[in-house]
Amino acid sequence: MDFRTQVTAPGATSRFNADALLIVLAGDKLPAGLDEPLAKAIEQAVALDDYAFKSGKLAYLRAVDGVKAPRVAVAHAANASAKALKAAAAAGFGALKGLGVKHVAIQLAGFGELQGVHAEAVAAAAGDAVYLYRTTKPSAPPAPKLEKLTLLAGTKAEGSALNGGFERAAAIVEGVTLARELANRPGNHCTPTILANEARKMAKANGLRIEVLDKKAIEAIGMGSFLAVAQGSDEPPRFIVMHYQGAAKSAAPVVLVGKGITFDTGGISLKPGAEMDEMKFDMGGAASVIGTMRAIAQLKPKLNVVGIVAATENMPGGRAVKPGDVVTSLSGQTIEILNTDAEGRLILCDALTYTERFKPAVVVDIATLTGACVIALGNHRSGLFSADDALAAELLAAGDAALDPCWRMPVDEDYDEGLKSNFADMANIGGRAGGAITAAMFLKRFTSKLRWAHLDIAGTAWKSGAAKGATGRPVGLLTHFVLSQVK
Ligand code: BES
Ligand code: MN
Ligand code: ZN
Repeated sequence: MDFRTQVTAPGATSRFNADALLIVLAGDKLPAGLDEPLAKAIEQAVALDDYAFKSGKLAYLRAVDGVKAPRVAVAHAANASAKALKAAAAAGFGALKGLGVKHVAIQLAGFGELQGVHAEAVAAAAGDAVYLYRTTKPSAPPAPKLEKLTLLAGTKAEGSALNGGFERAAAIVEGVTLARELANRPGNHCTPTILANEARKMAKANGLRIEVLDKKAIEAIGMGSFLAVAQGSDEPPRFIVMHYQGAAKSAAPVVLVGKGITFDTGGISLKPGAEMDEMKFDMGGAASVIGTMRAIAQLKPKLNVVGIVAATENMPGGRAVKPGDVVTSLSGQTIEILNTDAEGRLILCDALTYTERFKPAVVVDIATLTGACVIALGNHRSGLFSADDALAAELLAAGDAALDPCWRMPVDEDYDEGLKSNFADMANIGGRAGGAITAAMFLKRFTSKLRWAHLDIAGTAWKSGAAKGATGRPVGLLTHFVLSQVK
């Protein structure tokens, strides 16, 4: 999509040539700054009870007197925050996207001086509205025609702030859309091999270097824990390493590590049947890393970034790893696999050890790791785990700025106790209590040489129910975080 800003003189909105105007309002009365014909139309709608200055209200007006654009949608935000703006803009795009609308001009009123975050909020809403999964659904309706979005600014200063926001947002929208698309694909259309090929395609198209390690190469390195998960599947694993270079070769990179379980049956510790289909989303972390690498390639910040994806299925079978089996990780530490459904940590621990070779400035892993995280935080905030206060603060801030928030969880050593094993250096599960935390504590045992944080996105990477589908989170958070690391 093409995102632009235009500085308009007061009174010019109604003369603006677009297929539709989207007016987003905040506050409990008609805000100042609207053109006469628009103000009049909105007040008429209020008088007819078609609209009110209340959260969630939406009106669609056609052929408004004195307004050049043939369609006008008016959406009301709960308050003047960027988050409320995004929700109201989403409702507005929802009303317009099914129509023959290609170019939407947007005016915001009641939000104070417009800034980059406002442009990001509007762009994110537009991107979400326009994406439609079609890859395995030939009967899907045609994709919305929306191609161009012009955000009207009152002043030059506003215009340049909005432009900065749009530049970031355009890259994030591409990254989010790619992450959603990859995660939405069914397991048989997104095997580790296919995922690696998609990463290759993305890397080629965006000028990134990429290495894809096959099973032999993974064996040669000695990722015994990752391979233990992969051994139950007929689909071979892939270890994907993407490189963005925006600074001197010697500069320590930011490393992102994604969990890429392309389908999680639970293995021999087989999952119950209900909603098992949703375990195709268990590569949401991997999808977010690939999407973020795409966004970064477009934004070209002056630093180095490495994106890593460990991809495999988790299947039961005659060769599958069994409860009680002990495996040796790349770090040399042995692991008693008490539950084969706690597989994410088994692939991530080897990927984390692998990152040591890059002498990274910081490592963040992203994983749909535990159902317990969904119980703890629900679907709004991702779980953030890090012993490093400064790093945690940076990730929290990045999440807030991107409207892709996370919440810090504890990593006190007391939580590590449950991982003790009589037969190996550690077990791969603790008790049921604090399950998201013991999972993080397991990973922590592999990060003593790293500045590290872990994001558990089990609750945020996809939606269940009627709107079932991938969200593309946390591409926004990660992109903001990477940009914040430019020194
Ligand atoms: N992929 C799941 C986590 C998950 C579950 C994400 C439900 C989203 C919704 C992960 O591999 C898993 O199975 N975790 C187990 C860990 C347990 C065996 C310690 C879980 O959360 O039940
Ligand atoms: Mn599992
Ligand atoms: Zn899993």
